[in-house]
Amino acid sequence: MNKVTWQSPSNIALVKYWGKYDNQIPANPSISFTLNASNTTTTLSWKEKEADDNFDFEVWFEGQLEDSFRPKIEAFFKRINHMLPFLKRFSFKIETSNTFPHSSGIASSASGLSALSLCFASMAQSLNIPHDEDFYRFASTLSRLGSGSASRSVFGNLVVWGKHPDITGSSDQFGIRYPGDIHPIFTTFNDTILLVDKGVKQVSSTVGHNLMIGHPFAEARFAQAQENMSRLMPILKKGDLEGFIDIVEKEALSLHAMMMTSDPYFVLMKPNTLEIIERIWAFRKSSKCHICFTLDAGANVHVLFPEKDKALVDKFIQTELAGYCENNQFISDHVGAGAKRISS
Ligand code: DP6
Repeated sequence: MNKVTWQSPSNIALVKYWGKYDNQIPANPSISFTLNASNTTTTLSWKEKEADDNFDFEVWFEGQLEDSFRPKIEAFFKRINHMLPFLKRFSFKIETSNTFPHSSGIASSASGLSALSLCFASMAQSLNIPHDEDFYRFASTLSRLGSGSASRSVFGNLVVWGKHPDITGSSDQFGIRYPGDIHPIFTTFNDTILLVDKGVKQVSSTVGHNLMIGHPFAEARFAQAQENMSRLMPILKKGDLEGFIDIVEKEALSLHAMMMTSDPYFVLMKPNTLEIIERIWAFRKSSKCHICFTLDAGANVHVLFPEKDKALVDKFIQTELAGYCENNQFISDHVGAGAKRISS
């Protein structure tokens, strides 16, 4: 029996991936901050088996055998089988746990599928199975096949996934560390995740991405994301916080606008999401702090702010925003260094 353990973080997109083609190819490039505290730890154990006619695995979540994860993992095995043709020769045990509460409304697919992909990449390496790519690029490609946003969790700080003409080395196949200049203010950014709705996602991401097929505004949205990536580059270089806020909030609202105008349509914000957004705007005006929000495909709010404003913003969150969260719950996180291997 052999085993390997990886810890991989969640990430928060600044320019959003929303819409994909076959084989997990994104309709537009995206860029995210890799987080630090919100992560998944996965141990993969394997042993050789006799027959090689099926995928054989068990999934354990936080110490319990968890059969409800099987369909997702089975689908993942099928998608990565061409890259890891030895999978059917082994029985696997996958043991996984998250630092964030399971029913927190925080998607665990980015951290979970990147952690598992890194384990498979390490396994391939330990078996000396040749693959002609760099280790992390290979792991990011596997991660993408599991969940698009997972391709970005493999690397630290700022990560781009999806081809963009101005970003050298960017690819639809895998994430890369953002290669442009980054002002130091963006390397210590904070993300406090306000848990407005801890329930199961109303729209799964697969359903959500598919809603962009034939969407009346799809082409305009994909072009907007391309343009926002270009606009963000000098902002990241200069440390232009006003420019950053403008793009990040527009991206979050565009993402939700796509859902509100798809067929069928969805409103994924809750009344408390809007209350929080309005309070953030009022506080930004009165305090001059560089605070802004972004959203995923749900009601939770990610509050982004630079380290210089931390004392004031923490107090604001505690006194004015926590009350809009389920059980006053929020998670304080910040930009992190990316996935790491845990030695056994
Ligand atoms: C709104 O990566 O969860 O968070 O590829 O179907 O697994 P799949 O989708 P997923 O979509 C994430 C969408 C988003 C924006 C983003 O993270 O870029």
